[in-house]
Amino acid sequence: MILFQQSNALRSFLDNQKAQNKRIGFVPTMGALHAGHLSLIAQAKQKCDIVVCSIFVNPTQFTQAADLETYPRPISNDIKLLEESKCDVLFHPSVDEIYANDLRKDDTNDYGSFLHVLEGASRPGHFDGVVTVVKKLFELVRPDEVFFGQKDYQQCLVVQTLINRAFQTIKFNLCAIAREEDGLAMSSRNIRLSEMERILAPQLYLALKKAKQLWTLETWQSAANEALKEIDSNAFTVEYLKICDQNTLEELLHFQHNAVIVLVAVQIGKTRLIDNILIDRD
Ligand code: PAJ
Repeated sequence: MILFQQSNALRSFLDNQKAQNKRIGFVPTMGALHAGHLSLIAQAKQKCDIVVCSIFVNPTQFTQAADLETYPRPISNDIKLLEESKCDVLFHPSVDEIYANDLRKDDTNDYGSFLHVLEGASRPGHFDGVVTVVKKLFELVRPDEVFFGQKDYQQCLVVQTLINRAFQTIKFNLCAIAREEDGLAMSSRNIRLSEMERILAPQLYLALKKAKQLWTLETWQSAANEALKEIDSNAFTVEYLKICDQNTLEELLHFQHNAVIVLVAVQIGKTRLIDNILIDRD
């Protein structure tokens, strides 16, 4: 694997690869890699000739300074995992390399109302920061295909909107959520869970599966309420558990649409967890 910290060096390497008609796959990350990230690398390897992974803890998407400061940065282990996954290129730039002292964010006000609900409502400005960095990375890497995890479903919609507007040649791949054996969605934040919190955390997935099982109920409000019973209210503070349209993220209270998604966000101790499940009707 070749490691680049400077944009110019990465760009000349990729120009060379493009001149040889190589198909470039791109997996942007913030590091602290786990099997979920590595599953994106594996899918990119299958579809592309050269796989570029970026590790960049993006300051503009954090809504709390403490979260940014304590975000895990185990770079040597990340490099080892990427090498084992046969990733071709790692781009690991400094904050200056990406932002050159200008931390202004792009404005996503006109992206649509889906951006302001769920994560957008809980973390104001978060998606502005995501769009800002993803746009810079796409401009630099100029990938043929990109790979994003369904784990951050709303982020996927945001990135798809960015692609429709400014990068129409890029093919977007939505990659399934990698889970631990007990169902907990893999996340860089899981290591912050205490032993007891870790035992309780799979309840999120149980709740999602319950909602999926009950989704033929007349009112989805009652399916959501039943699902909530799977989550121990003493241990978790539920921010939202909603059944929404897959495309608009509009909340659906009654059985009506074909493609829906159930999304959940909770706080457990000091850790915030999110998860979701897609329900596609035949
Ligand atoms: P990060 O949280 O590091 O996630 C990088 C990618 O891995 C995202 O596409 C995310 O959805 C995916 N991912 C995380 N957990 C996963 C899991 N359990 N299964 C499958 N995929 C999973 O998302 C970001 O970084 C940043 O916002 C970024 C896009 C890099 C912009 O800074």
